[in-house]
Amino acid sequence: MNTVIVGTQWGDEGKGKIIDILSGEADYVVRFQGGNNAGHTVVVGNKEYIFHLIPSGILHKGKICCIGNGAVIDPKVLFQEISDLKSAGINASSRLKISSLAHVILPYHRILDQLRETKRKYKIGTTGRGIGPCYADKITRCGIRMIDLLNPVVFGEKLSDNLKEKNEIFKKVYKHPGFNLASIYKEYLNYGKIFSGYICNVSSLLNKAIELKKDILFEGAQGTFLDIDFGTYPFVTSSSSTVGGACIGTGVSAVKINKVVGVAKAYTTRVGEGPFPTEFSERFNRFIREKGNEFGSTTGRPRRCGWFDCLMVKEAVVLNGISELAVMKLDVLDGLKKIKICVAYKYKGKEFKEFPQDLEVLQSANPVYKEIPGWPNYVIRPKVYQDLHPNARAYLDRIQGIVGAKINIVSVGSAREDTIF
Ligand code: GDP
Ligand code: IMO
Ligand code: MG
Repeated sequence: MNTVIVGTQWGDEGKGKIIDILSGEADYVVRFQGGNNAGHTVVVGNKEYIFHLIPSGILHKGKICCIGNGAVIDPKVLFQEISDLKSAGINASSRLKISSLAHVILPYHRILDQLRETKRKYKIGTTGRGIGPCYADKITRCGIRMIDLLNPVVFGEKLSDNLKEKNEIFKKVYKHPGFNLASIYKEYLNYGKIFSGYICNVSSLLNKAIELKKDILFEGAQGTFLDIDFGTYPFVTSSSSTVGGACIGTGVSAVKINKVVGVAKAYTTRVGEGPFPTEFSERFNRFIREKGNEFGSTTGRPRRCGWFDCLMVKEAVVLNGISELAVMKLDVLDGLKKIKICVAYKYKGKEFKEFPQDLEVLQSANPVYKEIPGWPNYVIRPKVYQDLHPNARAYLDRIQGIVGAKINIVSVGSAREDTIF
């Protein structure tokens, strides 16, 4: 069974926890897009792990973890992540495979990302990790791939060609001194040496595994509404975080995908700028942020919080072909007297029941809510579905009915045990 996991909102839905759980049944786990803009949290016992590049299945012994061609890799961050895992007693090296075709994030990508943000009138609020500029170079066909780090001549030529153009731009447009060819060359060639044992043809590896009837879990990063095409452009990331990204980002055919699981928070959050129709008032935002510990796993920035938006998740269900949903962080809503679900938007007298593509509508629309009773003073830690307060079950039923996908997993805490199947 080959399963793709995607976020159905603006990222941070709790994908890391679900991937860790489902990895138990998989043979391979593969990241197919994004880079270290992602922060996927897995809690095991009293230990918390935050993965940026390494697939969240790595904690399960024997699972092969791959980074596909669709991802962008900052070798410095990857090296640190491997070292941190080693200090925690987990040896990732023997089970980690990196696509030779994945693009490399270089120092000039990081700096350009940050400089561009300072110049923009409408800021995106990027993570500043160089993601956008690295994908831009990939598409412009001047990118440097992991395989290039293994060839001193090719790497030297490509880097020199890039710096010739980029240093001019840095100096003239951004008043930045630019970058030294020799020092980047030396540092990244060394990363090539460090990672030489991991770099391989991941597409071939996965397709052979599929022939042998192995199970593959495709780990999506970000979320449907951060997708470069279907997200709230331009307030998005630079990769395809919807299901199609799993194919182009690994070289596994669409006909080999058996199932798509969507991960949704029981409310909505967003980090960075961009429209957010169901965003809470400032005071309630602070309250839920504290209660749900809604601070970015990568940048530590406070996340913006709002009510569950059925238009978004319904759109995500359709775009990704989601048949099953995991609803996360239901416990954060414990104790509220009333809970709202957004079922439509109103803009200039018109009602929208489908997620609008026009950013102006999204920016100015008024959400139409259905209000349902909450479950105040609730203290039971539910272990099975029947343990959930009847109002919590009614909330899930309502969501399920509107978004058109079955809720198969409900999460009520960050630990593996706090999961209802
Ligand atoms: P991801 O990027 O989708 O993997 O999500 P993040 O790891 O960035 O953010 C999810 C956060 O919620 C992490 O801190 C998780 O440990 C935490 N979390 C996951 N599921 C639950 C849950 O059901 N309840 C609570 N309270 N926290 C959860
Ligand atoms: P995970 O995988 C939440 C957001 C940034 C910014 C926009 C563009 O943990 O869900 P970028 O650095 O990608 O160019 O930033 O996308 N963003 C995320 N928000 N979770 C993420 O990843 C994100 N990755 C990027 O905050 O608004
Ligand atoms: Mg995250």
